[in-house]
Amino acid sequence: MLRPRYIPPEDIFPPNPWAFEAVHYDARLARELTGQAETMFALSNGYLGIRGAVEEGTPVREAGTYLNGFYEHRPISYGEHAYGFPRIGQSILNCPNGTVLKLFVDDEPFVVPRAEILDYRRSLDLRAGTLNRDVRWVTPTGKRLHMRTVRLVSLAHRHLAAIEFELTAEDADVEVAVSSELENARPLNADTTDPRLAEGFIGRVLHPTGTRSAGLRALLSYRTASSGLSLGCGMDHSVSTECSVLTQLSCDDDVAVALFGCKLERLKPLRIRKYLSYHYSDIVDPDEILTQTASTLDRATRSGFEQISERQRSDVERFWARANVTVESENPRTQQTIRWNLFQLLQASERAEGHGIGARGLTGRTYEGHYFWDTEIYVLPFIIYTNPAIARSVLKFRYDMLDKARARARELGHCGATFPWRTINGEEASAYYAAGTAQYHINADIAYALRKYVEVTGDQAFLWNYGVEMLIETARLWFDLGFFSDAKGGRFCINGVTGPDEYTALVNNNCFTNLMARENLRYAVKTVGTLERLHPDLFNRLAARTGLDRAEIVQWSEAADRMYLPYDARLKIHPQDDDFLDLERWDFASTSEDDYPLLLHYHPLNLYRSQVIKQADTVMAMFLLGSHFTQDEKRRNFEYYDPLTTHDSSLSVCIQSIIANEIRFDRKAIEYFDFAAAMDMSDIGGNMMHGAHIAAIGGTWLALVYGFAGLRDDDGRISFNPILPEAWSALKFVLTVRGQTLRIEIDHVSATYRLLNGERFDFSHAGEECVLSAAEPVLTCAVGPLPAGADRAGGLD
Ligand code: BGC
Repeated sequence: MLRPRYIPPEDIFPPNPWAFEAVHYDARLARELTGQAETMFALSNGYLGIRGAVEEGTPVREAGTYLNGFYEHRPISYGEHAYGFPRIGQSILNCPNGTVLKLFVDDEPFVVPRAEILDYRRSLDLRAGTLNRDVRWVTPTGKRLHMRTVRLVSLAHRHLAAIEFELTAEDADVEVAVSSELENARPLNADTTDPRLAEGFIGRVLHPTGTRSAGLRALLSYRTASSGLSLGCGMDHSVSTECSVLTQLSCDDDVAVALFGCKLERLKPLRIRKYLSYHYSDIVDPDEILTQTASTLDRATRSGFEQISERQRSDVERFWARANVTVESENPRTQQTIRWNLFQLLQASERAEGHGIGARGLTGRTYEGHYFWDTEIYVLPFIIYTNPAIARSVLKFRYDMLDKARARARELGHCGATFPWRTINGEEASAYYAAGTAQYHINADIAYALRKYVEVTGDQAFLWNYGVEMLIETARLWFDLGFFSDAKGGRFCINGVTGPDEYTALVNNNCFTNLMARENLRYAVKTVGTLERLHPDLFNRLAARTGLDRAEIVQWSEAADRMYLPYDARLKIHPQDDDFLDLERWDFASTSEDDYPLLLHYHPLNLYRSQVIKQADTVMAMFLLGSHFTQDEKRRNFEYYDPLTTHDSSLSVCIQSIIANEIRFDRKAIEYFDFAAAMDMSDIGGNMMHGAHIAAIGGTWLALVYGFAGLRDDDGRISFNPILPEAWSALKFVLTVRGQTLRIEIDHVSATYRLLNGERFDFSHAGEECVLSAAEPVLTCAVGPLPAGADRAGGLD
């Protein structure tokens, strides 16, 4: 089940709190971890993402370059088709790779595994926002060379990446050639052994539409046949050295090469700055896309590498000022792991404006670059509390899908809107409906995230202009999907859905879904009522546009009030759905460790007919809607579901940690947290080579802030109930709430709340009301001892 596949050895990967780095070269590790390293060292700004393949281009697993939302359609084939199955899917595309700078020394290609390495360091600098490489080696003819590279994907200019390459001959002159390339590689073959991986394409996907080249600049352009997107990509260079350099540029449809030949004199470095630009569009023509690509390069060459990298550092500094989390602990790896996770959140979201956030961010093609509920439930809380403008944009992106969601609802025979379970362009792309379209809860998840955004940021305008319309359409969906069931005493039941647990599918009355739907309906009723009271004109216009009838609002309210919630009086727990408790318990004792994740070893039917859980489901409901459960219910539910949960989804352990904290299963809380935080660094799922697990990464932040600090924000009221793990001595972080910034520092005896900017901040600590103000901006509160009878022990089985 849960186990680290890999513990980074400290002598190679020291636990530096501000860098993830390899400080010397280990041939075996480098061979085994090529794909993992490409993910760990990936750079992205939320629009453009580049995996951490080495500049020489070898060894390589997948040198991915992705643009958020740049995809091609592909047919979804079914053995047996049925009405309403999506026929056309979407797959994020791998764009031409511009990171390659092949080096030839005295005519011999330089590749690290073949070289006699003297010093080696590869470092993701979490303060500078750069990927740095420093390699010294001795050539077969005994000459010492030193290569330094700095790579970045700019946060300030989202179409831009840049690489600085510097080569120095340390003890003798040497002939060198550098081949700087931009290459449209053939699509990789599909891996059909794992349904989570991206499907491949057969044949050409990017159709050339023209090139431009001059000096040291080359631009390539393409068009996708079916999605109709134009792509422009380009590279430009500047060279500085005291040695004489011969340059030559060639460019065809799929490959551009800038060659630099040089007799490198001792201690006179050759420095090449390479700028890369990527643009795509669904409206402009190829010529215009080339012009846009060129203009990014013009701007970059005007600024120069120093200025671009200084700006990068200051943008990253600003991120840490608003989003850093510090953990003081016995284990220095903890801080490093947390920082790497937070840095991934920066990389996945900072310039994602106008798009969603894919399940692997822009670090890999797994799940085809699709946006799931991961965005709203796992990632948005962090963004809401640290970068509200991006949170707004991500939600606006959902709003922009509303027409497609309405059309999908019609196709499925529903009222209102049905948002896609997975998508890039707003259309449903899940090929397996039982674990896809049936996860109707995504509609309530979006409504839930919208509410959190509005309450935590205070952005009412967003609610009136966009949010309320989403609420009307999702409320309509729920009312249409469910019914007042005679068999259940006239309660409102929702049948034939799948909850978050994908090992239990197509059930009636999934507790999580019903609770979330109730919340969605109630929020819709409340919001529409407030809009009518405060802005009658707006209300009337919206009612006219959406055909809203007052009777509907009454119906929503009634459905919410009479929502059926499964409860088992004998066990005093909330069954996950109507039938869950009737199923046979999974035989964990006879399941070999190698058979996890179960989805790769058992037919879905075997999973569906057993009490076995992929990921937090009822436990998730207890986190998102905690006030609907008593402490005793939380404890009993957790005790029931926890042993049945395989955590075969990376989305599980972070949530399990939060509830374990709340019910004071302290050992479990920290053990689950450690798994969540190390999901990628220790490759817990065994698939991190395919990309970083962005939901688990967001969940790590949730487990820190909602878990150990005990943040709750029901109805926008902020409260904390902190409890630190024994192995930690302090937890410190920053939150922005309705424009005010709060710094929180927690240790084992006290919590200090500091208002960094703002006039007045009301919150509660361990149930006590507190106020911070500009005049009294600091308050220290006691962190209580363990309540009598609390269980500090409960650990993982
Ligand atoms: C999980 C889903 C998740 C998806 C993408 C699946 O394995 O079960 O909850 O949305 O991965 O991360």
